[in-house]
Amino acid sequence: MGEFDTVEQFEPRFRKVRPPEEGERIKVVNGRLVVPDRPIVAYIEGDGIGPEIITAARRVIDAAVEKAYGGRRRIVWWELYAGHKAEKVYGELLPEDTLNGIRYTLVALKGPLETPVGGGYRSLNVAIRQALDLYANIRPVFYFGQPAPHCYAEHDNFVIFRENTEDLYAGIEWPADSPEARKLREFLRREFGIEIREDAGIGIKIISKYATQRLMRKALRWAIENRNRVVTIMHKGNIMKYTEGAFREWAYEVALKEFREYVVTEEELQTKYGGKLPEGKILVNDRIADNMLQQIITRPWDYEVIVAPNVNGDYISDEANALVGGIGMAAGLNAGDFIAVAEPVHGTAPKYAGKDVANPTAAILSGVMLLKYVMGWREAADLIIEAIKRAIREKKVTQDLARHMPGVRPLRTSEYTEVLIQYIREAKV
Ligand code: NAI
Repeated sequence: MGEFDTVEQFEPRFRKVRPPEEGERIKVVNGRLVVPDRPIVAYIEGDGIGPEIITAARRVIDAAVEKAYGGRRRIVWWELYAGHKAEKVYGELLPEDTLNGIRYTLVALKGPLETPVGGGYRSLNVAIRQALDLYANIRPVFYFGQPAPHCYAEHDNFVIFRENTEDLYAGIEWPADSPEARKLREFLRREFGIEIREDAGIGIKIISKYATQRLMRKALRWAIENRNRVVTIMHKGNIMKYTEGAFREWAYEVALKEFREYVVTEEELQTKYGGKLPEGKILVNDRIADNMLQQIITRPWDYEVIVAPNVNGDYISDEANALVGGIGMAAGLNAGDFIAVAEPVHGTAPKYAGKDVANPTAAILSGVMLLKYVMGWREAADLIIEAIKRAIREKKVTQDLARHMPGVRPLRTSEYTEVLIQYIREAKV
């Protein structure tokens, strides 16, 4: 149990921030989060539209918690700084205080952070994920009746578990004319007789058993807790045998060795159960990546949890969210063994910053992920989901959705937030 002891004993020194005294710390006991009634939850507003959408999310979450638990429970928010706000407070973009703050609270809600394209500093989002080893990027797809391009949108209920640390995105790559690429070309020619063109950039694809298996473990635990019926491994193992093919094999190995009592394979489904999945069991199957990208469009009802290496996971999670109407609704959770940082999938939307027009739903739904799946405050989470569904039904939406609803006046971010809070207060519990 050494791992969670370390989490509990972690007592950082902070330079410019202090945990709020009125709150209590979320702890890890016997490998599980224990959430007190007044938990300290960190938040980072972020850049661009970040402050507007994170403020909206906190207000909606507070209203739902108040309604669900009548004052017995309350989140004590603690602001940490990253991005341009951190530059003002600390003179740096990602201060150690912020990383330590998240290590201390274990749970955080984060707004988008700007990354300059082409030059400048590296992505702060990636830096946070790496520093805290948030290896699983969990992306749910919620369909609430919003305008959606997919004719089967009402079946689009997926959760994608994307590996967050490896694959072609690990950043092991060199430009064509670099000394490193030249050295590597020479090495490959000399050692293996492999010829690579001189004008080729080179990137290396890394997929390990360790990273694959911890991701699959997380996905299966999620599926068990949330009573999902299918977990699908997405891979391109027919072509990339020792990376994506191995991903498939290692993922099955976890399923069959560690979760045997829950798992039914596709073959067993036919041979043992006559094609009908028994209650309480989970079908674990796999699909080749290109087929998987098609299947969620043509047969979305067959899929629930999808487990994918980094690159596939990136593509399919964007595709899946596009099917249900896009970025304003897309929520995400970056999770490690015990730390969870929820954030909307979208970026800082600079053209909307400070204009009170952005859709805060993705940020709000990211908060729902924390409440429902990390903290176990399901009643509050469900109130928010019902309020969002009602707002869409009653056409109370921000401009990104209103423009697809003829004759509907778009609400400002703040107006929409008020509507959700009102619906939460009016809900019957
Ligand atoms: P973006 O997601 O900010 O914007 C893409 C499009 O969606 C734009 O038309 C934008 O106006 C719209 N949009 C995004 N969020 C919206 C919302 N909540 N409501 C209504 N419309 C919304 O992506 P883009 O333009 O590629 O990136 C802008 C900046 O954000 C960059 O600096 C990028 O590095 C950063 N970024 C940060 C992320 C993070 O913090 N996790 C993720 C993606 C981008």
